Amino acid sequence: MKSMLGKLAAALKEQIAGCNDLAALEIFAVERLGRKSEFNNLLKGLGALPAEERAVVGSMANRLKQEVQAAFDAKKSELESASAGALAEQERIDVTVPGTRPQKGHLHLTTQAIQEVTDIFRRIGFTRVRHPEVEWDWYAFESLNMPPDHPARDEWETFFVDAPVSVKNGKMVLTPHTSSGQVREMQKKHLPIRMINIGKCYRRQIDVSHVPMFHQFEGLLIDKNVSVTHLKGVLDYFAKTFFGPDRVTRLRPFHFRFTEPSFEVDISCGICLGTGKLDGGAKCRLCKEGWLELGGAGMVHPNVLKAGKIDPEVYGGFAFGWGVERTMAMKSGVRIDDIRVLYKSDFRFLQQF
Ligand code: PHE
Repeated sequence: MKSMLGKLAAALKEQIAGCNDLAALEIFAVERLGRKSEFNNLLKGLGALPAEERAVVGSMANRLKQEVQAAFDAKKSELESASAGALAEQERIDVTVPGTRPQKGHLHLTTQAIQEVTDIFRRIGFTRVRHPEVEWDWYAFESLNMPPDHPARDEWETFFVDAPVSVKNGKMVLTPHTSSGQVREMQKKHLPIRMINIGKCYRRQIDVSHVPMFHQFEGLLIDKNVSVTHLKGVLDYFAKTFFGPDRVTRLRPFHFRFTEPSFEVDISCGICLGTGKLDGGAKCRLCKEGWLELGGAGMVHPNVLKAGKIDPEVYGGFAFGWGVERTMAMKSGVRIDDIRVLYKSDFRFLQQF
């Protein structure tokens, strides 16, 4: 019995010493040292020995068991620290290696223009607002003095939304201009009004100078004793701040259903400074006659005020609405010969701005 124990213990210690990975050691522990192992069976057999022999063999067995356990523990911790070392080596980080820089982006040029426009008007007391871009016909047309079937509506090549028609507000549309925010703003019942509504507009049009989704900014001022002079002052202020101190605006008579009188707003050309001629006497190629067209404006029509439940005998105001893309293209002086490139997400184009 003694020699069997001694041999087995020696064999176990040898096997432990030969083990060189943790998983194998675990399996070894179960098979060779566990409850059903040969070693354990031998130890169990001790009970059957005569008393005096049992004391001697028992104490030897205990010692051997401790030795095997100690060998096992030592091996285990040796293998564990080796694997931690290997991991540390594998995952070593050299903090002195220069990093890979993430690509640096910037805001889209339309967003940049919107921020600049917002800021310019904020300085003279206009608050930036947003109104729905999926809108009722009533706000986009009817409240703006354009009854159903009025031919003036043709100008706004409108997308209609396939949604239930409202008895009060008519069909739903993708708003074709930011003027749909005028009566919505009046309905807030905060007078006087100084709003700058900037948002997306949609028209069924696509070619080199049109995209079906574009942006407009709409100014609306409602107060007592407002005149065209105020409109002109605000437009000139914007032109000088946005385009440069040497620029001026010009109002040209026009017609909109929702303003009276109505105007087209032109800005003096930045190349020929409003003369239409270049230094050598040749015609300016950008504007041909000294002026560039910016967009529409006018004094708010009494019917629009009435639609917004404002008394036109007491209050009056002006409005203007221009395309963001167009205005920004004019500023940069960059002749974008196909406006669609703005929304193609082509980095080669976008990264230039
Ligand atoms: N909403 C008009 C357009 O889209 C522009 C405009 C706005 C005209 C405000 C007059 C007053 O063409």
